Amino acid sequence: MSTFSLPSDTEEIAKRVTTAAMDFSGKTVLMTGGRGFLGRHFMDTFNYLNEHILPEPMKLVVLDNFISSGKEGKNIPKFPHVEFIEHNVINKFEYSGKIDYIIHAAGIASPFYYRAHPIETLEVAITGTKNMLQLAEANNARFTFFSSSEVYGDPDAKHVPMQESYRGNVSSMGPRACYDESKRVGETLCYIFHENNGVHTNVIRPFNVYGPGMQETDYRVLPNFASRIKSGMPLHVYGSGGQTRTFCYLTDAIVGFLLVFLRGVAGEVYNIGNPKPEITILELVKRVETVLGKKVNHEVIEYPDSYPADEPLRRAPDIRKAKIQLEYTPEVSLEDGLKRFLDWSDKTYTGDA
Ligand SMILES: NC(=O)c1ccc[n+]([C@@H]2O[C@H](COP(=O)([O-])OP(=O)(O)OC[C@H]3O[C@@H](n4cnc5c(N)ncnc54)[C@H](O)[C@@H]3O)[C@@H](O)[C@H]2O)c1
Repeated sequence: MSTFSLPSDTEEIAKRVTTAAMDFSGKTVLMTGGRGFLGRHFMDTFNYLNEHILPEPMKLVVLDNFISSGKEGKNIPKFPHVEFIEHNVINKFEYSGKIDYIIHAAGIASPFYYRAHPIETLEVAITGTKNMLQLAEANNARFTFFSSSEVYGDPDAKHVPMQESYRGNVSSMGPRACYDESKRVGETLCYIFHENNGVHTNVIRPFNVYGPGMQETDYRVLPNFASRIKSGMPLHVYGSGGQTRTFCYLTDAIVGFLLVFLRGVAGEVYNIGNPKPEITILELVKRVETVLGKKVNHEVIEYPDSYPADEPLRRAPDIRKAKIQLEYTPEVSLEDGLKRFLDWSDKTYTGDA
């Protein structure tokens, strides 16, 4: 059993996508960033599909350069049908066999890491995406790019929840620009390769995924809270605590992502997240207390130097397009998801982050 996932979650994901996943039977999938939080769950899910569902196993080729995967990215079980290659995707990659799907999930997602590596953050989403699109074109493979809800920047309230057609309000200068702007360019590359070169591209804009497997030193809000709960320290809420977010539990997110890989309409972009509830970070503290059944101290503090300020005030997805085109529906409530995550982090985190 792996330490980064709950077996019941992996089974739930596989059962929710069984029909669509049949298309993976006997196919080869190349996944970049496969040692990261989401990539490790894809490995787990694909392994489950191979063991329990697919008539012929799928093969998975995983690329990662470990820049932000932490110790969690190194300590993973050996799965059959998975080939791991240490590779920086800003360099060309050649593969001798036929590739059917390319999932470009490499990226520097945590604000803590992209503040430390701004140039690498730009390069993986721009040069890395171009290299993977060229590989998709050469193989006639379906290509999916992991963009981000950050491409919407700090939206005007009238655009919340955000539809895919909203063009965003993003700054090209500032501590978040390396991430937000590079994801926007990555999306433009997908558009060009689809329009001009006929590549089957899809773009996913994930909205705050959380769940077992998140690095304790990731410093996004929920692992940060979980680590401080473990150490008995007060929770740290940055800024005013009035900024809103939605939180999508891991199983709902992975189901949505798989439906895009398998069923996405060529050239389309999809928001994947859980639109409800949209809550402030201070309300999130209360939900954590409800789940734990006890009072948890918290402090509202200035943004630390390691974390980029000027974060969006509101963020919530409109997922009607994914619902209609992919039959995607999130099913895990915030309370249920928090319970699964906090039970796992209590057993796994050390409280030393
Ligand atoms: N998890 C979320 O809530 C979320 C939200 C929005 C967008 N995304 C995007 O989804 C993707 C996966 O997210 P995640 O949470 O698993 O992130 P993660 O940071 O846990 O994993 C990303 C992986 O990519 C690898 N990587 C980075 N640059 C690389 C390079 N040049 N070559 C090869 N590997 C490289 C890292 O080492 C890491 O293992 C990322 O592109 C991220 O930007 C995630």
